[in-house]
This record gives sequence, C-alpha cells and structure tokens, in this order.
Amino acid sequence: MHVTLDGTVRELRTVWLEDGMVKLIDQRYLPFDLRIYEAKNAEDVAVAIEDMVVRGAPAIGATAAYGMAQAGLQGLDLKAVGDRFRKTRPTGQDLFVAIDYMTKASANGTDLVAAADRYAQEDIDRCRNIGKRGAKLIRNGTRILTHCNAGALAAVDYGTVMAPMRAAKEQGRRFFVYVDETRPRLQGARLTSWELLQEGIDHAIITDGAAGHFLGRGEVDLVLVGADRIAANGDTANKIGTYGKAVVARENDVPFYVAAPTSTIDFTLATGAKIPIEERSPQEVLHLDGQPIAPKESPARNPAFDVTPAKYITGIITEFGIRKPSQLGLLNKPAAPRKKGTAKKSR
Ligand code: MRU
Repeated sequence: MHVTLDGTVRELRTVWLEDGMVKLIDQRYLPFDLRIYEAKNAEDVAVAIEDMVVRGAPAIGATAAYGMAQAGLQGLDLKAVGDRFRKTRPTGQDLFVAIDYMTKASANGTDLVAAADRYAQEDIDRCRNIGKRGAKLIRNGTRILTHCNAGALAAVDYGTVMAPMRAAKEQGRRFFVYVDETRPRLQGARLTSWELLQEGIDHAIITDGAAGHFLGRGEVDLVLVGADRIAANGDTANKIGTYGKAVVARENDVPFYVAAPTSTIDFTLATGAKIPIEERSPQEVLHLDGQPIAPKESPARNPAFDVTPAKYITGIITEFGIRKPSQLGLLNKPAAPRKKGTAKKSR
C-alpha cells in the first residue's frame, strides 16, 4: 500500500523483516500517526499481536511467520516460540496455519526468512485473486456495507474485503461504502476509512447501530465482510457485530458475502460452534480513547468475534472463486512450503 512516512510516499506492507527486526505498521495510532513498530524478539512479536499493533487474521498469520523466521535467526527454540504465538489471539485461523507452515519449513531444512517471505507473498497473491474473483459483485452505483477492517492493513497488502473494491475501482467503477465504526476498537472508523480515502473510494462512517437503518431502507445493495475463521460448513467467525448485519441483510434480501483466503478456513471444525471466541479486556468497552465512558462500578463483556451461521451467507469469495458455504469442502487442499532457496528474498 502507498503511505506517506516522514513526508515521503512509500510502498509499505503491513509486516516485513528488516535488519533482523520484525517491522509492523503500528495500527494503534492510525489514522492520525503512521508509526513503525520494531519487534526485536519473539516476545515483542507476541505482545504486538496481543495489543493489536497488528490485527486482522491474515496479517497476524504473516507476523507470526516473520516472528518465527526471526527466532530462527536468533537460534531460539521454534517449538517454544510457536507455542507462545499460539496463545496470543485464539480466533483467527491464519495464525495457526502460519505457525504450522513455518514449523514444516524448519523441519524440511528450508531457509526460514525465505519461507516467511514466501508465506507473505502467497497471502498477497491470494488477496489479489480475491479481488479478481469478487470485483464482478460491485457495479457502478453499488452501495456496500462493511464491518471492521479487512483491508491491506488486515493482510500483508491489498486486503480481502478491500480487494474486490480495489479491483472494481481499478476497472473504473464508482460505488459507495458504508463503514461501520466497529466498537470497541473502531477498526472501521480508524482504519477502513483511512484505506478508502487513500483509494479515493466514496464512503461514509456510520455507527454500528445504524446499519439496520440503512439496510431496512433499501440503501445497501451488498454486505461484504472478512473472516477470522470459517468452519467446514461455512459458519464464519468475524468481528463482533457481523452476525447481526447478516440477519438484517437476509431480512431485507440483501446479499451477504464473506471475502477470505482459504488459509482462513478450518476444515477440522465441522461447524462454527467450536470456533474459540476471544474475550478481550472489559476496559476496551468501558473506555473510548483512554477516557472512561461508563460508571466505574459497571462491569462489561467484550467478545471480540461472533459466528455468523452459514445459512445467512450468500457466498464466500476465495482466491479460487466465489463458493456457496456448502461448496467449501472442494477447496480442502493444504498448501506445502517450498523447498530450500526457492522463495524471494526479504526486503
Ligand atoms: O480484532 P481484529 O481487528 O483482528 O479483527 C479483524 C476482523 O475481524 C477482520 O474482519 C478479519 O480478521 C478479516 S481481515 C482480512
């Protein structure tokens, strides 16, 4: 993605390895400040994932891959590092896919930096293909509703939900995006709007509670969301609040699509019932921008994700094409890391 850093426009990815450090766009400060977080070791990487310096399922996966490559360079025990990373955020599937990928690469004697680069490049390729496959859903004048951020920041680059939007824009189409603010962390208001602005895509930020209003009035043509983990039957975990949008979309006959790479599908889970749902600190609900917004005696609950049952999902846009939830089984082919020395070099 193009970003302005220290007054100059640079082409940046969400995560990369440079001078032995895992570098990340620090998403906690956007859209006001573009800072780079430098993780010196595996613990810094784990904390970055936990504290949401980096977030979004594919970006978390790539961060873990680079974290393991860094750990390899530092001669650390990769099993212990992988176990630490596994404890950071439980819901997103890509984290576990990436750790397994790097563990296999290590067992095969593959250069770990090359393997992490390859993992990251594969993520970008998947996103670009999601864009190609999904762009046809967006026509001139389409009004889209999205939730959370599934853009370039949530992947290595290009994004999942943002991919069909970017591709449609590249094909000269004009459309409009309603951006749910996405409490409590405001990924929609802070990050998705930032990406849409850079792309020159028309949009408006709405409160989470306003989505039903626009769906009910016929002002949304398409709901497009990302995924953190998809069960084999298509049940989809995504940012808390997604389920409600899906039900209201169905009630109003508005198509509801999930854009996600196959690395987000967990074929070991038959349904979404067993997808682990991360519960984050109540402080995220009780505060806004560091300021308390509720009586300090009131407790809060803060599940970070919910599961949308497959029956509400019109289709899943993967890198291989748009599939009905019931057709996901056909995509069940795990990718293997390449042999030594066949991946691109790290920047
Ligand atoms: O808590 P987050 O910000 O990591 O949640 C992110 C989401 O729910 C995204 O929609 C999902 O990871 C897809 S990102 C391509």
